[in-house]
Amino acid sequence: MRKGSFTCRECGYASPGWLGRCPGCGQWNTISEEAAPARGGSRGAGPPTAAPAPLHLSDVDLGAQARAGTGLAEFDRVLGGGLVAGSVVLVGGEPGVGKSTLLLQTLLGMEARGVATLLVSGEESAAQVKLRSVRLGGEGSRLRLLPETQTENVVAALEHLKPAVCVVDSVQTLWSGQINSTPGSVAQIREATSQLLRVAKDNGIALVLVGHVTKDGELAGPRVLEHMVDTVLSFEGERAQPFRILRAVKNRFGSTNEVGVFQMAEQGLVEVPDPSSVFLEEGDLRSGSVVVPVLEGSRCLLAEVQALVAPSNLAMPQRVARGVDRNRLAMLVAVLDRRARLPLLKCDIFVNVAGGLVLEDPAADLAVALAIATAWRDGSDGHGLAAFGEVSLTGKVRYVLQGEKRIQELARRRFPHIIVPSRNAEEFAGIVGAGDGPRLNAVGDVAEAVRQATARSIRGQDASSPGR
Ligand code: TYD
Ligand code: MG
Repeated sequence: MRKGSFTCRECGYASPGWLGRCPGCGQWNTISEEAAPARGGSRGAGPPTAAPAPLHLSDVDLGAQARAGTGLAEFDRVLGGGLVAGSVVLVGGEPGVGKSTLLLQTLLGMEARGVATLLVSGEESAAQVKLRSVRLGGEGSRLRLLPETQTENVVAALEHLKPAVCVVDSVQTLWSGQINSTPGSVAQIREATSQLLRVAKDNGIALVLVGHVTKDGELAGPRVLEHMVDTVLSFEGERAQPFRILRAVKNRFGSTNEVGVFQMAEQGLVEVPDPSSVFLEEGDLRSGSVVVPVLEGSRCLLAEVQALVAPSNLAMPQRVARGVDRNRLAMLVAVLDRRARLPLLKCDIFVNVAGGLVLEDPAADLAVALAIATAWRDGSDGHGLAAFGEVSLTGKVRYVLQGEKRIQELARRRFPHIIVPSRNAEEFAGIVGAGDGPRLNAVGDVAEAVRQATARSIRGQDASSPGR
């Protein structure tokens, strides 16, 4: 058996010896020695047992999967209908995003509805949790609190108390004396999770683990947890912005396609049940600003892409992107320069997505391109330009999925000009009938889209400002 090995704290890379820099993730000083666990033996050493008999799939009884509603519809939606008894959910997010707030709020609500709950707090003292609960309006709550960091003690408490729901905040603070490595190391987190997993399954406890992620979005003490647990949720948002998105990354009990939207307020997180336009900025949309309908799970959100283009004095003009991938921006600028003949290569270009939203939907390409194009042309009013479509290197504007849903959402918010890929326009006309629905400007390539977006006929025509 291996005597022990060296593992990277960040990415789990295993190496037979110590290294200053991890070859897996490139971080310095993240490799430490992990002693091999004392337990366990080599495979197949025990006496032979009878061959296990498989089941027929048709005989499998789904039973009533006990789900406990969290009391927050947005949270339940992401979970697929509530917390499943005996399942383990990992909630990841950057420090300060609001994980502790979300889960304390959930526990306070569940406790008030008579669900047996337990909060294991390894990060905050009992007094700190109390202070937060006062802020959340739960000062009189009988919620059970266990300030504890030793894994075996947490397991013993769970076996004794058998709560219906338990939150462990955070899994990185747990440590076990059986493992010879520091708290927060891969070995400790793995050990804690496997012990907790077993006690949750054995006792039908819905267990929620909080995990911090590092700057680059990786769950610290990392991928090892993702495959062990049933559900992985990621809580995202910029600290300076009020909006938060809860996203299912993996879900054995529901769709991974769902998001929940919250707003961080004075008294905790408030649900945003109709988030379609909360990410739009107040006031009239100006040139250099284009609205795009992006899909987040089964919902369509309207996002506002803003751009500023200015002549540059630098040898390497600046490209600053917030909410849009930098490489994607560089590609779109090159396509605008080569395919739409906009001389942008000597300009500083800044792109921002309002409200702290991060756009991953390829349908946002055209909106980014048109925000830059209209920002470059001039600074007059743009009157609510909306666009979607994927842009290819050849300058083609490509068809995107769920065009109908996107168009309907823009129509609902009374956007007068919608620039769409021609195939999406044809498809939409086929669904609603020609002549009905909002007016669409179908485009085949990015040069045509730029002409449409900057043409006087579109700009000056409709002065009604889009609703929000
Ligand atoms: P927190 O839940 O501690 O984040 P995490 O556990 O992910 O590290 O939330 C931290 C931020 O939320 C903190 O900066 C204060 C803010 N906050 C509010 O704005 N309103 C509230 O009611 C609460 C409890 C926190
Ligand atoms: Mg916290």
